[in-house]
Amino acid sequence: MRVVSGIQPTGNLHLGNYLGAIRNWVRMQDDMEDANLAQAAEGGSAHNQCLFFLADLHAISMPHDPAELKKGTLEMAAALVACGIDPAKSVLFNQAQVPQHAELQWLLGGTARMGWLNRMTQWKDKAGKNREGQSVALFTYPVLQAADVLLYQATHVPVGEDQKQHLELARDIAQKFNNDFASEDAPVFTLPDPIVPPQAARIMSLRDGSKKMSKSDVSDMSRINLADNADEVMKKVKKAKTDPEPLPGEEKGLEDRPEALNLVTIYAALTDRSVNDVLGEFGGEGFGTFKPALGEMLVETLRPISARFNELLEDREALDAILARGAAQAREIAVPTLGATYEALGLVRG
Ligand code: TYM
Repeated sequence: MRVVSGIQPTGNLHLGNYLGAIRNWVRMQDDMEDANLAQAAEGGSAHNQCLFFLADLHAISMPHDPAELKKGTLEMAAALVACGIDPAKSVLFNQAQVPQHAELQWLLGGTARMGWLNRMTQWKDKAGKNREGQSVALFTYPVLQAADVLLYQATHVPVGEDQKQHLELARDIAQKFNNDFASEDAPVFTLPDPIVPPQAARIMSLRDGSKKMSKSDVSDMSRINLADNADEVMKKVKKAKTDPEPLPGEEKGLEDRPEALNLVTIYAALTDRSVNDVLGEFGGEGFGTFKPALGEMLVETLRPISARFNELLEDREALDAILARGAAQAREIAVPTLGATYEALGLVRG
């Protein structure tokens, strides 16, 4: 197995990222480390590997401030380590230090189709009515994302629901490239499988249950940031939009209550329980009881993460070293696939 995934280093790491993706990264990292150790103990050679990166190249597809991007990249690296990504177990790096990502993106540009990219919902959402005014990078964004995973022959890609479509596109690109330029028994690319958590695939805004929790939302009250302190967390939960009804005893009672469903989903994900199980405990109670319970659960989960995050931020040199080492490891893994791609396309490299 090779697990690969990325996150944009813009804005804060929020609860949606954590429950939708990062917690799964950490679990997969630890499971694979265990599998590797078990294999090694039996005298086998261990091949499972995780690569996690900061998608700084993706971040320039939208207007951005260079100083903020630099700061955000280091902060996001610290946030991932604080969440449990261990640079001794996983390869942790930023795209900009591995030029093979951008190179492969160009090579895949001959295979990706305009029509495929035009159908991407993220492109449609972000471009809105002003498609002509968007950067080329925003349109070709999913081709870079395909390069991110195909470069490493990723088998599994843990993401939230919103990134599934991009992963399907990566599979389409890989499939077409293999068909057009490789023989059936020696494909150039592995088709990656998206891994979306059954709970918390889509954490919604605290202010509007129809919108996903997002770092680009103008209102900070719409999201819980992993670096928020206890007072901020309690205040945001208290102010979260709800309705006057008590909680039902079963999930189907939340069908037309997206904000209530979102809060219960968050509680369920934090405690690794099902929504029905949580409703079994809180059914019949109002939000006056449920919200403080949820707030406390969040504070308990975030406390060790934010403490570690603040500690890590104080050692800038250590963070630089983690990223430099991860990038060197990533480049080494990337080189053979990039070489095979040039070769398959008939490009002469001397
Ligand atoms: P990004 O930076 O928006 O988000 C990082 C991860 O968090 C998940 N996520 C959520 N999950 C549940 N509920 C939410 N409200 C929520 N918001 C975000 C995302 O699904 C994602 O898994 N294009 C990607 C970054 C990327 C990437 C890649 C991912 C670049 N190359 C290659 C995987 C593989 C992005 O902008 O994610």
